[in-house]
Amino acid sequence: MKKVILTGDRPTGKLHLGHYVGSLQNRVMLQKENQDMYIMIADQQALTDNADNPKKIIESVTEVALDYLAVGIDPNKTNIFIQSQIPQLAELTAYYLNLVTVARLHRNPTVKQEIKDKNFNESIPAGFFTYPVSQAADITAFGATHVPVGEDQKPMIEQTREIVRDFNRIYNKEVLVLPEAVLPPQNQGRLVGIDGQGKMSKSLNNGIYLSDTPEIIKQKIMKMYTDPNHIRVEDPGKVEGNVVFTYLDIFDPNKEEVNLLKEQYQKGGLGDVKLKLRLNEIMQEMLEPIRLRREEFAKDKAEIYNILKQGSLKAEERAQKTLDDVKDAMGINYFK
Ligand code: TRP
Repeated sequence: MKKVILTGDRPTGKLHLGHYVGSLQNRVMLQKENQDMYIMIADQQALTDNADNPKKIIESVTEVALDYLAVGIDPNKTNIFIQSQIPQLAELTAYYLNLVTVARLHRNPTVKQEIKDKNFNESIPAGFFTYPVSQAADITAFGATHVPVGEDQKPMIEQTREIVRDFNRIYNKEVLVLPEAVLPPQNQGRLVGIDGQGKMSKSLNNGIYLSDTPEIIKQKIMKMYTDPNHIRVEDPGKVEGNVVFTYLDIFDPNKEEVNLLKEQYQKGGLGDVKLKLRLNEIMQEMLEPIRLRREEFAKDKAEIYNILKQGSLKAEERAQKTLDDVKDAMGINYFK
């Protein structure tokens, strides 16, 4: 069977280095000419917990699209589209909701955690509570076989697989494709933020953004968390939990030198500033071409919308086919 890859992001802000190493780089590598690859900007899902702030979501749609194009996602190979522009997804969701119990939704660990984090208490928006079902529509509408996602999205793929199995069993036909989650390698969890306190995220304000200027990048690197007990240059320092070393391990191509630096740091005699300046040089070199491409694309907003529109039209056509199949299987095609 032909491989169909689908991924998506909620547009709630610009994308950062954590997105880059965690998923964007991988998506660029996965792009191939004769293969179906879809990347969805999930504005509808983002609105499920941002009903009172649609402006943030709408503005982020173009920012995220710019980030995609800047890192090398190629609209000629990858179909980039906007979720809300595919009404078939909402229609599929309506039918899938009948196959899922409220108790089952309550058990979703990711949604549970989000409800806590967002302090919804008893006031959970119904749209938010049911977004895993809408995500099942996102995935099945395009016949996705592979869904590259982070660990936190595993429950969504599991939910989707249950819906697919139930639908195909109830209607006695292999209408929906059973998707598979493609998880990042074990050792490659999500990138830690510059504060060393948690994963890079907008809410923790500890990110380096693909759109950051060289000055901002340098400022952020210079205040990166290292070893709080490494005060004088000659003091021995700790490498574990030291964000500068974590980043050097990931981004510095010269691993031998990094190992020598680690030894020197642990013995004493290597200052944080020197180390940070090295990291700064490496990061600047990596991020410059991305930022320049981003600035170039940003000059022509109309072209960005054109790319998204073409992608959405193609996506809609594919989703309509699934919706037709679904309604045929259910027998709700009265006028055919
Ligand atoms: N839930 C995903 C996230 O928060 C975004 C998303 C929406 C998605 N629909 C999807 C991811 C379909 C993969 C497939 O990042």
